Amino acid sequence: MNRRQFMKYSAWGLAAVGGFSMANSLMQLQTVSRERFSENAKRERKEYTDLLYLASLAPSGHNAQPWTVKMITDHHWIIGSSEARWLPAVDPDNRELLISIGAFLENLVVAAKSQGYEANVHILAQQPKAEELVDVQLYKRDVSEAVAVKPMKLRRTVRNHFLTDEISREDIKFLTGENKEHFIYYPRKSQEGSYLAEGTVWANKLQADNHEKQAELAQWIRWSNQDIKQYGNGLTPETMEIEGLARWYVKNFYSRQSVLTDSFREATIKNIREQVATGGGWLVITSNGASVPELIGVGRKLQNIWLKIRDKKIAIHPMTQMLEEIVTKNEISAALGIRENIQMLLRIGYIHTYPEPVSPRMPLKKILL
Ligand SMILES: Cc1cc2nc3c(=O)[nH]c(=O)nc-3n(C[C@H](O)[C@H](O)[C@H](O)COP(=O)(O)O)c2cc1C
Repeated sequence: MNRRQFMKYSAWGLAAVGGFSMANSLMQLQTVSRERFSENAKRERKEYTDLLYLASLAPSGHNAQPWTVKMITDHHWIIGSSEARWLPAVDPDNRELLISIGAFLENLVVAAKSQGYEANVHILAQQPKAEELVDVQLYKRDVSEAVAVKPMKLRRTVRNHFLTDEISREDIKFLTGENKEHFIYYPRKSQEGSYLAEGTVWANKLQADNHEKQAELAQWIRWSNQDIKQYGNGLTPETMEIEGLARWYVKNFYSRQSVLTDSFREATIKNIREQVATGGGWLVITSNGASVPELIGVGRKLQNIWLKIRDKKIAIHPMTQMLEEIVTKNEISAALGIRENIQMLLRIGYIHTYPEPVSPRMPLKKILL
């Protein structure tokens, strides 16, 4: 289908703690008293638990939290991914997975800084399905820097109640900062903004009609409180911002099977259409190539802006379906006149009140290898 047909189509309205190495601590034992050792160990253990927890607050596709951490020593981590938490239907090449890993890494680096550590990061993987992706070593810094971890704790994806005001130039400048060359902003009312809105509705429709992709989504929705507690990952009625009586209903009566019904698919598209009609515009993140380091770099940039925006009352809603569907993916760069690889599509907008984070996270023992 070409662009004109696509426009027509859319116009129709389809619109570890146990895993820590004790080697370092044992060496310390020779120089400190037993009591002090135990205090140090307790403190360090808390430090690394905190670091891992803060890193895990990163965003990820379907909230699958694909990251794993192997502790070589307390200060030397290998970040990888768990195949059980890949999304083969919507992300067959692990492109989005690497972006999520990049966001995790950015949180880790910032969190480490807040505890007085410099993180030395080395990308290990050549290909996106490698078991080990990133090597991180932490070094104590001589001079400490005041770094806040609150933005990590308060960051979240917001999907509803966006205002329709345009994002001011100053705010765009503030968001993109030094990384400007990999960010492109389109106001919602621009031609490109309309194209992205229609394309997003269309790509969502394609996904809703695709059994494999819809079944994968169904597998990652945790309808009941019991499932949320059991898995600690995935999408929930709260994160999908289903409100009021409808939330109570879906929590009590919905199942995986409900996601595969026509009424669920239709409700999804209606919701998407309402979402793309609001917000200030679209922020596109690009990269030169699509290598492992570049995709991880995209994730770091994404998280870097996400950590800055709360005070400005700007919300971010990634809407990646146009990059997941072959027809829209093939035409999007030419349609927008972008030569680089488009890696993330973010709907951004001002909001009156920033909601609290509600997305579950897995216990750390599920991350540690
Ligand atoms: C690579 C990537 C792709 C994403 N794609 C979408 C998307 O298409 N639609 C959406 O509603 N959220 C998307 N998200 C947001 C995740 O669903 C969200 O980060 C996750 O549910 C955790 O919630 P939190 O960000 O509030 O912590 C994406 C996030 C990442 C990192």
